[in-house]
Amino acid sequence: MTIYQKLYEGKAKILYATDDPDVLLTYFKDDATAFNAQKKGSIQGKGAVNCAISSHLFQQLAARGVPTHFIDQPSANEMRVRAVTIVPLEVVVRNIAAGSLCRETGLELGTVLKRPLVEFYYKNDGLGDPLLTRDRLLLLELATPEQVEQLQTMALQINQMLSEFFEGCGITLVDFKLEFGLDRNQQLILADEISPDTCRLWNQAEKDPQRRVMDKDRFRLDLGNVESAYQQVMERVLKAKL
Ligand code: TMP
Repeated sequence: MTIYQKLYEGKAKILYATDDPDVLLTYFKDDATAFNAQKKGSIQGKGAVNCAISSHLFQQLAARGVPTHFIDQPSANEMRVRAVTIVPLEVVVRNIAAGSLCRETGLELGTVLKRPLVEFYYKNDGLGDPLLTRDRLLLLELATPEQVEQLQTMALQINQMLSEFFEGCGITLVDFKLEFGLDRNQQLILADEISPDTCRLWNQAEKDPQRRVMDKDRFRLDLGNVESAYQQVMERVLKAKL
């Protein structure tokens, strides 16, 4: 086995160089963190589950014309991706009020938003990934005004596709976080992962506000049965097509 150089180790993934400078290898770990790593733990099998779900979703989105960094999935925990320069923004799309939106605005959990809300957070652990205004984002030159427009448009298109996809799985897509990168031609492409770590997913067959949770909120809020919820998402996702 070739031992590749480790480029970066994050909270949930490790990034390796490969023989090809345009290709990187991402290894999905079982480690889980929440609240800017104040809570740490492990979700058994999460790495492989998130790798499989992300790979499938990236392929589905690519088939619908969304440019993504996904190349292939050489093994259970590994994804080969195109090398990009990550834009230091977390682009969050919300369809239903939950999490920090409820905490910071007083909106009631489960309020269906009249239209999807797109928010930009500064990807900066030292600062605790703060919510940005558009003007602060531009002030810090984290993206150009044209890129902000494009990110907003792409995020809303992806939301439409993913919402439809999860609907077909009997799952409501409450909200999710995306990351984008710039390729060598300065084109924005979808990067990182799309998984129960980065989405809120509610089982439509369950009405109870705790039982319906199929995502990392089970870990964040100590709701139990974390592994089985992730497994259940994977089983449904892998069977479905957009
Ligand atoms: P929030 O309600 O905590 O702001 O989270 C919004 C969405 O973003 C939710 O689906 C979880 C996801 N998310 C991440 O993927 N990474 C993070 O660090 C945070 C805080 C949220």
